[in-house]
Amino acid sequence: MTEQVTSSLPLLGKTSLVTGASRGIGASVARQLAELGADVAINYRSKRPRAEEVAQAISDLGRRTLLLQADITETKDIEATFDQIKQAWGQLDILVLNASGGLETDKAADYAMNLNLHAQVNLVRGALALMRPGGKIVFVTSHLAHFYGTKPVYPGYEPVAISKKAGEDALRAMIPELTEKGIRLVIISGDLIEGTITPKLLQRQYPGLIAGRKEEAGSLPDVEEFAAAIVDGALNEKHETGAIVYVGSTEWGG
Ligand SMILES: NC(=O)c1ccc[n+]([C@@H]2O[C@H](COP(=O)([O-])OP(=O)(O)OC[C@H]3O[C@@H](n4cnc5c(N)ncnc54)[C@H](OP(=O)(O)O)[C@@H]3O)[C@@H](O)[C@H]2O)c1
Repeated sequence: MTEQVTSSLPLLGKTSLVTGASRGIGASVARQLAELGADVAINYRSKRPRAEEVAQAISDLGRRTLLLQADITETKDIEATFDQIKQAWGQLDILVLNASGGLETDKAADYAMNLNLHAQVNLVRGALALMRPGGKIVFVTSHLAHFYGTKPVYPGYEPVAISKKAGEDALRAMIPELTEKGIRLVIISGDLIEGTITPKLLQRQYPGLIAGRKEEAGSLPDVEEFAAAIVDGALNEKHETGAIVYVGSTEWGG
């Protein structure tokens, strides 16, 4: 392989798992990882046809892909996910913790905590058995969650903010164990992301939310830009473990 190919495909030979990769930000992360040479396991919960489209795009780039249906709040599904990765690839280099939720109206009161805290910890525990020194774990969060307790949050988003903040804190508490294994944790936090579902759902409760935030922040990041920062979190060796990267303005409510 030539020098040129190596530098344009810096993740060639690396394996990755992206949770919630059937759509939105996760789908963009999966595609961008593949563009940099990584093989990508796509976790999806319900959107099989969309996940298949992402898998096809990855195959078209010449990379290996796995389509892994799993509800990450189910321990048995997480076990099955890592069993399948182990069987297919033997190991894992990059785990992107993107899947999230908690605004669903048809779920139990503890669903947000199950998804944004307990499932994230369980995923890291499952991945550790397959990860080697040099591995990266990237946790995706929002400014509204990361700054929970220090900056104002829309009450309708509070269950998500509380649980994602708890997820971030729990993963940070695992850093000593990760460091022992030579694995780094990087956290990527985003402002409202232009064109995505979550701000649109919130806007139903808080009319004018998106326009107001744009005016306050100047502009909002889009999906590709946020996904690029997440991929950089996995790729770029400059990020120390526990580092946080902010995408979009962190100033609001002042
Ligand atoms: N959108 C924003 O404005 C914004 C801003 C800052 C940070 N973020 C963060 O960016 C990440 C992605 O956000 P997004 O807006 O792209 O989310 P989204 O459009 O709501 O997509 C959520 C993804 O998570 C998956 N998912 C949800 N519950 C799951 C479960 N129990 N098991 C497995 N997968 C599950 C969904 O899978 P299925 O579709 O297959 O069901 C979907 O792929 C999240 O961590 C979010 O906090 C988003």
